[in-house]
Amino acid sequence: MRVLFVCSEIAPWVKTGGLGDVAAALPPALAELGVEVRMLLPGYPALLAAHADRRPLDDVAGALVAPAGNLPEARLSQATSGGGLTYVFIECPALFDRPGGPYQHGGVDWPDNALRFGLLSRTAAWLSSRESSSTWRPDVLHGHDWQAALTPAYQRFRFDTSVPSLVTVHNLAFQGIFPRETLAALDLPEAAFTLDGVEFHGSVSFLKAGLALATRLNTVSPGYAREILDAHHGCGLDGLLRHRRDALSGILNGIDTEQWDPATDPCLPQRYTADRIESKRANKRALQTELGLPAGDAPLLGSVGRMTAQKGVDLMLDCAEALVARGVQLALLGSGEAEFEQRALRLAGRHPRHTAVRIGYDECLAHRIEAGADFFLMPSRFEPCGLNQLYSQRYGTPPIVHRTGGLADTVVDATSAQLAEGRATGIVFDAPTADSLLAAVERALALTDEQYRRLQQAGMGRDFSWHASAQRYLELYRELAPRAPVRS
Ligand code: ADP
Ligand code: GLC
Repeated sequence: MRVLFVCSEIAPWVKTGGLGDVAAALPPALAELGVEVRMLLPGYPALLAAHADRRPLDDVAGALVAPAGNLPEARLSQATSGGGLTYVFIECPALFDRPGGPYQHGGVDWPDNALRFGLLSRTAAWLSSRESSSTWRPDVLHGHDWQAALTPAYQRFRFDTSVPSLVTVHNLAFQGIFPRETLAALDLPEAAFTLDGVEFHGSVSFLKAGLALATRLNTVSPGYAREILDAHHGCGLDGLLRHRRDALSGILNGIDTEQWDPATDPCLPQRYTADRIESKRANKRALQTELGLPAGDAPLLGSVGRMTAQKGVDLMLDCAEALVARGVQLALLGSGEAEFEQRALRLAGRHPRHTAVRIGYDECLAHRIEAGADFFLMPSRFEPCGLNQLYSQRYGTPPIVHRTGGLADTVVDATSAQLAEGRATGIVFDAPTADSLLAAVERALALTDEQYRRLQQAGMGRDFSWHASAQRYLELYRELAPRAPVRS
């Protein structure tokens, strides 16, 4: 089974969120199951620098992709990663040799993102077609999010390949919408600009094209797969998704259990296991000291993530004063919308003994917050899957989450029945409001030591590894390509 995995980020080199983590962890888990995975990635400077030993792609004559529309010529190179994966980089300095993150610079999207990710999608379809004369043809094309979602449109309207495709939606809110004129620049014919093609309210939409044309669709939790069928979560695409509901499924993300393991985590001042949970306490003290908060028994709530409305950061800020009045300490790490960053910093300025705010991206501090906090806050308004609540359960830090998408699927609420059964792993609340969040924190603080310990043990005992999810993806690939052999 050969799978071309098409993705616009990959941890640790290029990552804006969970997509980068998934791209780093799922392919090796698939390779372990006998899938031959190739990853097609934009040739960002950080990726190329980290793979200095790469060489021109063997399977395509000249390793060149010819220019088309306004898409410049690109060179293809390959590198082998540990775990038997092959990376294929699209080297096109005009589009990818830039500072900043993969999509933006200084908080502003690159104006030619359509071309940048059009090239990614087009190259994926081209490689799977006879036109490329590639000697390595995939059995399945697996694209992630809008950046890769134009691939099935190139298959349908440009290269006529019969390779079945899967589009995975990590976040329906990001759709890749560009003006109609982009069509020709992308080397797509007018015939593609239809209701069942790339057209979306008079514009070109990458994600809509993928949802309309891919053989199968999935999202990163069963709950989110159901939610996006209604207008509230459907981001304008719910009608199309309802139309394609038979092709849509939900497969929960896993986590990298080696990188996120409190027993071996090099970022932690004190490592621990479920059997030596007392050692977690030293991490709390160290975190309080690191963040300039008084080290002591005050409850410490942590949060890590993008500071956006999706993540409900405003809900946390709205109830922060009440939490401070209650003697709670807050440790917030993240970056995102300027308004939320400013509000968080002002809060920390007003209450330096109760609130610590770090704006930026800090992988090791994220680990220390997961380990050092008493509870982890994740009041997301919507959450396709979410990884942080999985990390926090594995770290014995019960999450407090809104009942939505992947959060509802992965956190078991501390009702008295579920506590008694030893199944509860966190606190789940129903309405995305500051009042409900506050009430959820009150519930958390009212737990007895014994109940709290049960939550920790249940969370730490769960298996969030990629193994089960990779199996589900393999089943889906098998449905798409029943005749492709899988090495065992
Ligand atoms: P999303 O992809 O929607 O941002 P996820 O929970 O799936 O949310 O994944 C977020 C990932 O990014 C996690 O690995 C999380 O630890 C990481 N992360 C987000 N913000 C930060 C930050 N400021 N510092 C360190 N890690 C961060
Ligand atoms: C998106 C979602 C997040 C998910 C991640 C990885 O960024 O917002 O919920 O965990 O993708 O699939």
